Amino acid sequence: MSSESVKSNDLVVAILAAGEGTRMKSKYPKVLHPLAGMPMINYVLDIALSLNAQKILVVVGHKAEQVKQGLAGYNIEFVMQPEQLGTGDAVRRVKEHLGDFEGNILILNADVPLISRETLLDLVNQHGQCPITMLTTKLDNPTGYGRIIRDSYGDVRGIVEEKDASSAQKKVKEICSGIYCFQAAYLFDALSRLTTNNAQGEYYLTDVIGIFRRKGIPIHTHCTENSMEVLGINDRVQMAKASKFIRQEILKRLMRNGVTIIDPQNTYIDYRTTIGRDTIIEPTVMICGKCVIGEDCHIGPFTVIKDSQLQDGVTVQNSCSIDQSIIKENAAIGPFARIRPESVIEEGARIGNFVETKKTTVGKGSKVSHLTYLGDAVLGEGVNIGAGTITCNYDGDKKHKTTIKDGVFVGSGSQLVAPVTVGEKSYIGAGSTITQDVPAYSLALTRAKETQKPKWVKRRKKDKPKE
Ligand code: UD1
Ligand code: CA
Repeated sequence: MSSESVKSNDLVVAILAAGEGTRMKSKYPKVLHPLAGMPMINYVLDIALSLNAQKILVVVGHKAEQVKQGLAGYNIEFVMQPEQLGTGDAVRRVKEHLGDFEGNILILNADVPLISRETLLDLVNQHGQCPITMLTTKLDNPTGYGRIIRDSYGDVRGIVEEKDASSAQKKVKEICSGIYCFQAAYLFDALSRLTTNNAQGEYYLTDVIGIFRRKGIPIHTHCTENSMEVLGINDRVQMAKASKFIRQEILKRLMRNGVTIIDPQNTYIDYRTTIGRDTIIEPTVMICGKCVIGEDCHIGPFTVIKDSQLQDGVTVQNSCSIDQSIIKENAAIGPFARIRPESVIEEGARIGNFVETKKTTVGKGSKVSHLTYLGDAVLGEGVNIGAGTITCNYDGDKKHKTTIKDGVFVGSGSQLVAPVTVGEKSYIGAGSTITQDVPAYSLALTRAKETQKPKWVKRRKKDKPKE
């Protein structure tokens, strides 16, 4: 029963992200760990932003500076929780950022990233002006979550955390998602009454529910059937589960938009990638970070593409690595090519096996087919680079540029010692080491004169003493 939006002046979103995340056993803040290429907190933030709330508050504490840096640029307000005294204490800190706000507060957890906009809209709309509505779900294995305890009429009596639960309470399958909608006044009144009288010695936000019950304040629940959406990420096993779920959702979205994914179980595409229709992705491909891939592309197996742009009709054969580069229309890459950052492969160009490019532009229709290194080079149109060509771009101190103009033919096994320019339509003889600029329409050749000794082998054998 989702309606498209909520009354924005009535809603503030608070995202809890201050916890230490002990169970992750990480040096880094838990909420910045990525799922399918994007930090888990960004998923929660994107959804929160889509609700058009009056304000979004993010409670930070543990490694606060890192978390703040990770979220720079978002239109949000940070709330500092100096000591991690529990979820109840975290929410209490929000109060001084609210002024005389009297509307509703939607509480989200930065470690519950799979929540959907639809479910939140359902929650907020069902909530209306109730004192509290909390999002619950039923799990076959509720281990680790707070359990919803109900009386014989089915009314909520409170929430009991796993560590405080009796064995009977542990059998309860309905769990607290950590997501709630509160009317501000009721919430802050109850928060001021919290104690740390529990197994973890913390101020539990969940204890607010018991306080409401004792005061006779009605407690509403919204039980979602999409249990996966409320998966809490406390350790790396849960993180892998969430990543897998997100990846499968990404692939479904792409397939429904006309992309062929041959084997969705063995294809890894990050969240921020877009792919055009009729592109075919073979098994074991990884597309990481933020990539834009056009229509009618074909990506072969064992290829890894990161933060790159592939225009329409690009073919990438198996076992290539493409990083922070642009591959223009109908270009062909691989197999076994390595395209390093800041490479631009222009329209219709071909990069073959065991070719490495770095900070290099390969002009329209140019061919670099085998066993070549091009670094800090600019190749014009229609250039042909023979097998085993090397741009010697580094003098041990600085990097230098190689310029190869339109229509140049570089013979196999040549080295171009930068800085150097090869003029238009010139030829470099195979096996040359070019150290000076080559004028247009010339032949440059540095090969030593060949000597031949006829019958040398036979003579050598005759001279050898018999054993
Ligand atoms: C919490 C709930 C539990 C619920 C589960 C859902 C409590 C006491 N328990 O347990 O009922 O089933 O979430 O996933 O609320 N945080 C702070 N400051 C703190 C402590 C935590 O900001 O002092 C933040 C964390 O960064 C995290 C969230 O609050 O984003 C939840 O904290 P966590 O310690 O993961 O709680 P759970 O044990 O998962
Ligand atoms: Ca958690």
